[in-house]
Amino acid sequence: SKDELDARIRAAKATLGDRVVILGHFYQRDEVVQYADFVGDSFQLANAALTVPQAEAIVFCGVHFMAETADILAGESQSVILPNLAAGCSMADMADIDSVEEAWAQLAELYGTEPDADGRVPVIPVTYMNSSADLKGFCGRNGGIVCTSSNAATVLEWAFERGQRVLFFPDQHLGRNTAKAMGVPLEQMPMWNPRKELGGSTEAELLNARVILWHGFCSVHKRFSVAQIERARAAYPGVQVIVHPECPMPVVDAADSAGSTDFIVKAIAAAPAGTTFAIGTEINLVQRLANEYPQHTIFCLDDVICPCSTMYRIHPGYLAWVLEELVEGRVVNQISVSADVAVPARVALDRMLAARP
Ligand code: 13P
Ligand code: SF4
Repeated sequence: SKDELDARIRAAKATLGDRVVILGHFYQRDEVVQYADFVGDSFQLANAALTVPQAEAIVFCGVHFMAETADILAGESQSVILPNLAAGCSMADMADIDSVEEAWAQLAELYGTEPDADGRVPVIPVTYMNSSADLKGFCGRNGGIVCTSSNAATVLEWAFERGQRVLFFPDQHLGRNTAKAMGVPLEQMPMWNPRKELGGSTEAELLNARVILWHGFCSVHKRFSVAQIERARAAYPGVQVIVHPECPMPVVDAADSAGSTDFIVKAIAAAPAGTTFAIGTEINLVQRLANEYPQHTIFCLDDVICPCSTMYRIHPGYLAWVLEELVEGRVVNQISVSADVAVPARVALDRMLAARP
């Protein structure tokens, strides 16, 4: 039962003390978030993994790519645990290393590999945090960098200083929304698709490109629509509409502001009492904010409840199991990135951590 699980988790946590740290992403359900020592967005959780050297184990309540990142950043002797190994991310799965290597080779053929007069290389690869570790490794090996939704503009600036253009993967929407806000015209953001008959970019478009977008998307955020925003504005005059930049561009354009989950949390915390918010992001976060801020009216733009199905795979039952195994001295569901990937991935992550606005 729920109470039994709660007692088991609390008992295991008490026994383990400082030896374990539980990290939780904002999209985790409340039944899991209540046990987290630290809750945040993907950037904050990556930083958190760097700052808990006393912990023998980091239990990551989030999805696979986040646990991989924590393993790359955490110390040698620390193990990172993902309570349910089936907690992946459909967006991260939309770019694999072979397709990216193939795109990279074709772009090298098109642009050559020589820097221009200002020393800028033809293309810089930028991967969204929401990608597998080998894509971060690819970026580390090829002069590239990682970004999250909270630092995408800073990272794109970093890339434009060093490259004539950017190959951005896997999320087309974050890439497009961020570059557009920085003044890059849409016609300079072709989609990468080597099969032109499937609507991919032409050679002329690629030659003119500033940002080449991969075709990935988040299945949760692509559900939000301009029609939902119009309905919210009609029903609640004065409503503040805030959406995540993984939403399609017309949705971001129709919103009052767009930003990472942490941006959304801070915007709500800073608003005067009595503000009405319509939020375009994952439902667990929106409902938690609605409960935490009863002085505001907060609702999700999508009235069909739409949790991220893979985030939801972290159930308190799995959390109890991995903690109890730790108490017995066993590490289960460990996420361990091999050194050949982790070393270059760390290079790309360190570039991100050092990039400042
Ligand atoms: P952030 O935590 O960077 O806002 O990302 C949202 C998300 O989709 C994580 O999977
Ligand atoms: Fe992936 Fe979207 Fe779920 Fe984040 S919310 S884990 S990007 S599917």
